[in-house]
Amino acid sequence: MTGKVQWWKNAVVYQVYLRSFQDSNGDGIGDLKGIEERLPYLQELGVDVIWISPMFQSPMDDNGYDISDYYKVDPVFGTNEDMYRLIAEAGKRGIRIILDLVVNHCSDEHEWFRRACENENSIEAGYFYFKRTADGGEPNNWRSNFGGSVWSRLEDGRWYYHTFSPKQPDLNWENPMLRKEIYKMVNWWLDKGIAGFRIDAITFIKKDLSFAPVETEDGKRYPVENFENYPGIGNFLTELKQETFDRHDCFTVAEAPGVEQEDFCKYAGEDGFFSMIFDFSWESMEGEKDKSSPEAVERLKKKLFESQKFVSGRGWCGVFLENHDQARCLNRYLEKKDRNYYSASALATLYFFLHGTPYIYQGQEIGMENSVWKSVDELADTRAKITWEEKLRQGEDSGKLLKYFNDWGRDNARTPMQWSDEENAGFTKGTPWLKVQDNYREVNVKKQQEEQNSLLTYYKELIRIRKEEALADIMCKGEFSPLLEEEQGVIAYKRDYEGKKLIVLVNMQSRKAALEPGLCRRVLGEAFGKEPLFGNYIGVEIEGGKVMLQPYQALVAAAGIEAIHIGGSA
Ligand code: NOJ
Repeated sequence: MTGKVQWWKNAVVYQVYLRSFQDSNGDGIGDLKGIEERLPYLQELGVDVIWISPMFQSPMDDNGYDISDYYKVDPVFGTNEDMYRLIAEAGKRGIRIILDLVVNHCSDEHEWFRRACENENSIEAGYFYFKRTADGGEPNNWRSNFGGSVWSRLEDGRWYYHTFSPKQPDLNWENPMLRKEIYKMVNWWLDKGIAGFRIDAITFIKKDLSFAPVETEDGKRYPVENFENYPGIGNFLTELKQETFDRHDCFTVAEAPGVEQEDFCKYAGEDGFFSMIFDFSWESMEGEKDKSSPEAVERLKKKLFESQKFVSGRGWCGVFLENHDQARCLNRYLEKKDRNYYSASALATLYFFLHGTPYIYQGQEIGMENSVWKSVDELADTRAKITWEEKLRQGEDSGKLLKYFNDWGRDNARTPMQWSDEENAGFTKGTPWLKVQDNYREVNVKKQQEEQNSLLTYYKELIRIRKEEALADIMCKGEFSPLLEEEQGVIAYKRDYEGKKLIVLVNMQSRKAALEPGLCRRVLGEAFGKEPLFGNYIGVEIEGGKVMLQPYQALVAAAGIEAIHIGGSA
């Protein structure tokens, strides 16, 4: 890929789920001062950007993804002054802040929606999708992303449209006055010194305005073709970019479900609507019986390689293992028996050198895992609650449902950050808003800071290497090519740029992998036989004339690059 090297291509982003990161005032909820207290930790870790989940005023139906005032910090998280100070203090440590931009919808408690409800003829009534029907019934049969209908009824008989919960009415982007309001707000925050935005659910902003009822094959009536990346959305996104992002030196990463290959460049190419979009193509292992089996690893490898081969040279993605909407990666990619330092560091190595910007989600760097949820009452997620009610009504077994939320529920990623073995894992002196994972005495930051060979130490080293000056070109412009594709259970790839090579080799299974030395020599070239740059084991074993990779052994090797200090963990 040619073209300019933007700073964010060599950045490492850390996602803070504010509510669960650090509580500074004992109310059991994380806050901005809490992040400020932890800046030294983040600086030491080596990250360049912090993405903070929504901290705006909100009734918190969806933990802040339902905003009632875009200009105000919610009191539970602090004040606007706290936010401005955080931006400044982070800046002093070389860390930039990006905010979550949630403009597909707002809260039903936003004054726009209040006015719209009060007066059908108000300006604000045009900011939402309202419908009346002749028979008073729902305008169509579309289902929402959280389950249930996309329509909710007002007392006066109007229906309003919501992609997510009924407390998140969709904003009507067809309305130019609304768009202007959004641009004003975006520029206002950029002028406050933030570096950019993570943009929420952006591909839902354009709908098929016929709102025609649908019958979908799966019977779910979630017609993505009518409301995800719907034709015409490009006009809105071009305007958004011109009116806001282009006027600042800013960085944007979009959550863009529904963008298929043919539209990828429009979104995340050199002059795309955004700096990058998240790559969700290889996150799911749902349905795998044994996630650590060679067959499952092969399926993961196929998805990963397809995506990388496509994106490399065309545009840019955010690559990640975790975020606040998913179960923890150790639970998603590994069977319980296989979860340990080696497998966790193997996963980390696997994605860190891909074509894209790596994101780390809070707690991932210490190997936090899913909680055990004993009852639905312990769950806080609005989506889980809506789904729970709906599925029970449909006759689903509650035990099965609870098992589903234990395995895949969003609350798994949202449990408080495990800082230490003190009460509540050092997250709060009060009662945490969501229960702390039971294993915090074994898995916490303090413990891993004290151990020499912890996952935390490994992440620090990975981050350092990913940002090495000597690798900058390869990481930004290096071509991605798969290696050893035929080797079951092994995932390997190469990044190449002007004679420099970086090779990542990961045995993604709980048994050893035996590789032919001839093959290794051919594939690794000059890097073969050299000390790996970095890895989770010391050296590589040769047994019976074969190169033996240990269970979950991961290594990074280089050729044509001299200036990197050879680290190495274990
Ligand atoms: C995507 C966010 O990541 C998720 O947490 C939220 O519930 C929905 N968008 C709605 O804003």
